[in-house]
Amino acid sequence: MDAESAVKPVVVGVDGSECSLTAVDWAADEAELRRCPLRIVYVFAWPLLYTPLGAPLLSSQLDELMETARQVVHTAERRAQARVHEIGVESAVIDGGPIPVLLEESARASLVVVGSRGLGAVGALFLGSTGVELAARAACPVVAVRGREHKAQRVVVGVDGSDTSLMALWCGFEEADLRAAGLTAIHAVHRQMDEADGHITDAVNRLRERFPGVPAELTTVMAHPAEALINASADADLLVVGSRGRGGFRGLMLGSVSQAVLHNADCPVAVQRAGKAR
Ligand SMILES: Nc1ncnc2c1ncn2[C@@H]1O[C@H](COP(=O)(O)OP(=O)(O)OP(=O)(O)O)[C@@H](O)[C@H]1O
Ligand SMILES: [Mg+2]
Repeated sequence: MDAESAVKPVVVGVDGSECSLTAVDWAADEAELRRCPLRIVYVFAWPLLYTPLGAPLLSSQLDELMETARQVVHTAERRAQARVHEIGVESAVIDGGPIPVLLEESARASLVVVGSRGLGAVGALFLGSTGVELAARAACPVVAVRGREHKAQRVVVGVDGSDTSLMALWCGFEEADLRAAGLTAIHAVHRQMDEADGHITDAVNRLRERFPGVPAELTTVMAHPAEALINASADADLLVVGSRGRGGFRGLMLGSVSQAVLHNADCPVAVQRAGKAR
């Protein structure tokens, strides 16, 4: 991790749902591992506020909603402070749509964390295509906290040989190093005779040298990549993928494998955006 990202906060979006509080726990632990501050953000999505029959909200009702928002972030803040003690924790209620707000936050963050289900705008992100936009466009990696907690001491990375997947591999080594975990790089192939190409093996070997404390293996499996990665997520603490891969209908913001794992993996998923140089 470079010096700059060491001080950039881990940002977590909350909406008061149980799922977003699980995301706060995960983000607090991650911030402590990275020794960087935790920033808890409640996006107060005005355009999504409506009443039956379209009647405008009274200012007293808005005050009440704003007060609820403040309570949600304070509850989250107290929860994080009870969990981690070595890092600063701050919170904010910010007006706007969840995507623009979290994209803006990502420019100053080392990581943006969201729950995969929830009550409101932030929690609903990954149920729809909007979460895809966040993962595709954020200036830093985005983690959707989902699945069960495994304590497997294993980070899994999907590698198809594309530059973005090799950036995801770097990110996976960093994450494994932080949690003293092992790393499994998975390369899914169509045919039995296909092997991990030299390009991928070289990248894994270079990163083994860079992170000597991380036991790493490269596995080539004959399966659909999404299926292979979702299966592997059942025994992983974190799954890392790139936002794009080798294929690519350019119209899609996020590759089909990334979208499938964001919706189906059984552990938190980190998406490393294409094009961010290291
Ligand atoms: N064959 C594979 N083996 C392992 N991981 C893969 C494989 N294919 C994709 N991935 C993972 O998924 C990420 C996104 O790739 P994805 O295939 O979703 O996008 P794409 O190739 O741009 O688009 P698509 O394949 O949908 O046309 C990659 O960066 C990599 O982490
Ligand atoms: Mg692909």
